[in-house]
Amino acid sequence: MYNRIARLWRQKESKDLDGADLEKLLAKIDRNRVPRHIAIIMDGNGRWANSRGLPRFFGHKAGVESLRDIVRACSEFKIQVLTVYAFSTENWKRPQEEVNVLMDLLVEYLYKEIDELCREGVKLNPIGKLDELPAGVIKALQMAVERSRTNEGLILNLALNYGGRTEIVEAVRNIASNVKKGILSIDQIDGNTISGYLYTSGQPDPDLLIRPSGDFRISNFLLWQLAYTEFWLTPVLWPDFRRVHLMRAIVDFQSRERRFGGLKKNNRTT
Ligand code: FPP
Repeated sequence: MYNRIARLWRQKESKDLDGADLEKLLAKIDRNRVPRHIAIIMDGNGRWANSRGLPRFFGHKAGVESLRDIVRACSEFKIQVLTVYAFSTENWKRPQEEVNVLMDLLVEYLYKEIDELCREGVKLNPIGKLDELPAGVIKALQMAVERSRTNEGLILNLALNYGGRTEIVEAVRNIASNVKKGILSIDQIDGNTISGYLYTSGQPDPDLLIRPSGDFRISNFLLWQLAYTEFWLTPVLWPDFRRVHLMRAIVDFQSRERRFGGLKKNNRTT
């Protein structure tokens, strides 16, 4: 029954989404300058459901549809890395029932989607304190990682039981341990060293962070990696978020001049 109601909502709303002028947007995107790494805080599921008089569960369920569409779109745009915030270290504070729903949805998503993800060349890379997740989730993640291990397309970082501060604490501990063992000297430690000890080691930092649903917070997400990331915020709730919104974000991103602490091109005197 849940599936049917969620499907009916989507059918009703897909009309508005189809109305958007995808072709015009597509023409505006420079395929050679798409962000290498996009990070998304998938927020607003609860509000989406509440505003329809539905239990929060429906919002999460509908949010999976958005994730499907965005993963596909990122693959098509040849984005190198997509990081999505699916469950934070703080989300355990939610009612047990909601936590269970999220874990069940995740397992369902992995088993249902793995064939399609592999067809698209997506490589699944879960990040976070994975050993604390329920056994069924760990098993599904291991299956999906193994199945997609040799894929060479989009890297999908699924942030699960993820916290930016915890990630940095773990990195500091590992660095300290390697200093103690004599593998690393204190003088060698720089920004690149720290990046190399994070879950995202070897990946470019996000060029673009998207936060739907109108909040203006980082919420303990990729604290180190977002240092020079461009933010794109929208009031659209995650379950309504589709490739048209992603494309708007990319067009906006491409209009920005990134200075990384330097000066604008026409402001340079030397
Ligand atoms: C935040 O919305 C969203 C989450 C805590 C979970 C994100 C999960 C999904 C998009 C679906 C499941 C994911 C996978 C990978 C299968 P919220 O509940 O905080 O919304 P609110 O702020 O409106 O209450």
